[in-house]
Amino acid sequence: MKYCLIFIALFISSFALEDDDLYTIEDLLKEDLTDIIEAEVEDDQKWLVPQFDGSMKWMTEQEAKDQTINTEIVEQIKWVINHFSNKRRKVRFLLFTQKNPVKWQEIDMDRPETLERSNFNASHPTRFFSHGWLGGLHAPQTNEIVDSHLSNGRQENYNMFVVDWSCWSMSVNYYLSRLRTRKVGKIQADFIDWLHEKTGMPFETTFLYGHSLGAHVAGFTGKQVTKGRIRTIIGLDSAMPLFRYKNPQNRLADTDAEYVESIHTNGQVKGFYHPIGIAAFYPNGGRSQPNCGYSPIGCAHWRAPTYFAEAIARGSDNAFDTVTCNSFEDVKIRNCSGNSGGIKMGDPENYRKAKGIYFLETNSKAPYGVGN
Ligand SMILES: *[C@@H]1O[C@H](CO)[C@@H](O)[C@H](O)[C@H]1NC(C)=O
Ligand SMILES: *[C@@H]1O[C@H](CO)[C@@H](O)[C@H](O)[C@H]1NC(C)=O
Repeated sequence: MKYCLIFIALFISSFALEDDDLYTIEDLLKEDLTDIIEAEVEDDQKWLVPQFDGSMKWMTEQEAKDQTINTEIVEQIKWVINHFSNKRRKVRFLLFTQKNPVKWQEIDMDRPETLERSNFNASHPTRFFSHGWLGGLHAPQTNEIVDSHLSNGRQENYNMFVVDWSCWSMSVNYYLSRLRTRKVGKIQADFIDWLHEKTGMPFETTFLYGHSLGAHVAGFTGKQVTKGRIRTIIGLDSAMPLFRYKNPQNRLADTDAEYVESIHTNGQVKGFYHPIGIAAFYPNGGRSQPNCGYSPIGCAHWRAPTYFAEAIARGSDNAFDTVTCNSFEDVKIRNCSGNSGGIKMGDPENYRKAKGIYFLETNSKAPYGVGN
């Protein structure tokens, strides 16, 4: 809880915008409340839904919705009105490159000069990272992913964007954040279409990553771009609560990009357990991770971005060697030993070759990769 409040404090201190065309938090919450009331409830399945105090609670979608309307949203509106006076954009696209690895440049579609003056270069591969619930620019996972692309001496120079949707992800309520993933995906899709038109940024070199709820943001982005098709989406322990496997229209799905990779580290707790990518990777079986335990408050859910950042940072020394599994059933009983032909988890070239289900073991601390 304390940790979250520190995040929120950092998040407030990052507001410094002055445009007229921005939304007040009060307006935003009114809109949220309307959308929550109108949101449809699909069925009465029970879910372990994350709570703001760090616990998880069994609830139906209707109960999660009612909880949002009855208590938390009202508390949040009060809290926010007391704490926020500035206006801001709902979703911000913050660019890091080797020229500015520490201080981001915000690129804003409504102010094209922010693009013209930035270090964006369409000849370089472009990456977007969307964080999860309670995440944001300052979350450790965000820094890991950004740093792994910008470390000194890299051959490749990336346009590394953080999709900062903390305006919703910092909601005290998981239900609301989850409800917003489609809308954030739409805003991101419009942004990508715009970048493509303005700069010629090729879709072929554009990859989206997302952790937890952010994985579904990436999926909804892939579904909603109109000027091309995203090359690769990496779902990093894609959030499970309130997302249904049987309903790929409402979650990250294997058709959202040319290639979709899902990395499963806390399956059936915070993350999806079923394979949802063209290639699905199951480090240590995909449910718990070494030294993390099975508890919802354990660290397993956060290992997916950590492993992935290690894979990127190590480049051709990626040590996440894999074996193949014949089926998801075999993952569950750890009956996997097929020759994967050298496929490694998190390899940017996987779109050319990976397909199916992969298993691997890791170390319990960094470096996690156990291969050579
Ligand atoms: C963009 O990147 C390419 C390839 O690295 C480089 O040749 C070119 O000079 C860059 N453009 C600018 C404006 O920096
Ligand atoms: C384990 O996998 C092998 C080869 O894929 C398969 O033939 C066998 O039936 C599996 N074992 C179990 C217990 O499912």
